[in-house]
Amino acid sequence: MWGGRFSAKPDEVMEAINASIDTDKRLAEEDITASTAHARMLADTGILTTDDAEAITEGLKIIQTEIRTGDFPFSKALEDIHMNVEARLRDLIGPAAGRLHTARSRNDQVAVDFRLWVRSACAARAAQVEELMRALLKQAEAHADTVMPGFTHLQTAQPITFGHHLMAYVEMLSRDAGRFRDAERRMNECPLGAAALAGTGFPINRHQTAAALGFERPMANSIDAVSARDFVLEALCATTLCASHLSRLAEEIVIWSSAQFRFVRLSDSWSTGSSIMPQKRNPDAAELVRAKTGRTMGSLVGLLTVMKGLPLAYSKDMQEDKAGAFEAFDALDLSLQAMTGMISTMTPNIARMREAAASGFSTATDLADFLVRELNIPFRDAHHITGAAVKAAEEAGLDLAQLPLSVLSAIEPRITDAIFDVLTVEASVASRQSYGGTAPVRVREQIAAWKDKLQ
Ligand code: ARG
Repeated sequence: MWGGRFSAKPDEVMEAINASIDTDKRLAEEDITASTAHARMLADTGILTTDDAEAITEGLKIIQTEIRTGDFPFSKALEDIHMNVEARLRDLIGPAAGRLHTARSRNDQVAVDFRLWVRSACAARAAQVEELMRALLKQAEAHADTVMPGFTHLQTAQPITFGHHLMAYVEMLSRDAGRFRDAERRMNECPLGAAALAGTGFPINRHQTAAALGFERPMANSIDAVSARDFVLEALCATTLCASHLSRLAEEIVIWSSAQFRFVRLSDSWSTGSSIMPQKRNPDAAELVRAKTGRTMGSLVGLLTVMKGLPLAYSKDMQEDKAGAFEAFDALDLSLQAMTGMISTMTPNIARMREAAASGFSTATDLADFLVRELNIPFRDAHHITGAAVKAAEEAGLDLAQLPLSVLSAIEPRITDAIFDVLTVEASVASRQSYGGTAPVRVREQIAAWKDKLQ
C-alpha cells in the first residue's frame, strides 16, 4: 500500500505486531457498508465518475457475499480489514478500486466502522436486557405473595416477598438498558470524512454519508472524529455495570440453589452434574456469569488505560480498542441469554422460603413497631424491649410468634395478645405498604407498570 516510500519489506515480527485482521475481520460488514456510502457520495459530488463508483459498489457487493459465505481470502500481510477489502476490490475490478480511498483515511474509516458496530451492539444488548426483565417480571408476578427472608449482611433482616426481590433486579436492569440507549444516542455522529485528521480538500458531502449510515449528523471536529474512543468506553461502562448486576443475581442464584438454602431449584437444562459426586446439581452458568464480569471490567480498564495519555489525534495504540470490546460485548450477550434461561425455568421453593422467613426473629421490627404504634413507646425503648424478647425466645428455643404471652408481658406488662397478629411473616409483609415497599399490593402495582412499559 505504501511501497512507493519503502525499499525493504517489513520484518516478520513487525508484520505480526502490526496486523489486526484476526480481530477486526469482525468489522467486515461495517467496512463494506461505510465504503459503499463513501463511494456513492464521491460519485454524487463529482469526485468520482459514476462508472467508477458503480464498479466499486458492485465489487463491494461481491466481497460482502464472499465474507458471508466464508470465501473471502483474509490475508495477514494486508494488516487489517480495510486493506484486505481494498486489495480484494482491486482483484475484482482493477485500478478503479484505487479511487475508493479518495478523501478518506483508514483513521476515519476505522472510526466509522467501529462506531457502527458498537452502536448496533448497544441496541442489541438493550433489547436482551429487556428480555431478561420480562423473564423476571413473570416470576415476580407468580411470586408476588411468596414470602422469603430479606437479608442485610446476609443475616435475616425482615420478611419480604420473592416477587419484590426479583423486581429490584428489574429496576437495576432498566437503568442498564437506559445506559445502552443513552450511549447509542450519544455516539450517533459520523466520523467519516475527517480523513487522516484535518479533513480534506475534496468537495465531499459529510452530511450525505452521515445520513446514509443512519447517523444524526457528521462529527463537528475532524481531529476529535479520528481520535475519540469515548463512544466505546461509554458502551463498555454500560456493559460492565450491567455485567456487575448480573453477577449479583448470579451470586444469589448460587446461594439460593445451595443445599443449605434450597430457595430455588434450577431446571435440569441449566444445571450441571459432577463427574464424581452423583448428588450434585451445580449452578455453573450462574458461576460463569459471575466470573465473566471480571474480564469485562478488565476490558473497560484496559481501554481506559490505553487511551488515558494519548496525544491527539490517531495513534496506533487505538488499534487495541477492539479485542476487549468484542470480548466484553460477547460475554454480556451470553450472560444475558444464560440468565434469562435460568430465571425463566427455575422453580422457587415456596415452603422452604417461608420457613426460612419465619426463623431468625425476622419479625422483631414488627414487634418494636407494634410497641410504638399501640403503646406509644418511643422507638429506641421499643427496640430495647424487643431485644429482650428476642433474647428470651432464643433461650427458650422458640420463634417470637411462639413465645407465650406471659413471657412477653413479663418484659412489658402492657403487651396484649393483639401482638400475635403482627408477628407472622404474612402480616409483616402485608403491612409494608409504603411506596416501593414489599407488600404484595405495592409489588403488584410495580409489576403492572413494568408490564405496560415493556409492551
Ligand atoms: N487497523 C487500524 C486500527 O484499527 C486502522 C487505522 C490505521 N491507521 C493508521 N494510520 N495506521 O486502528
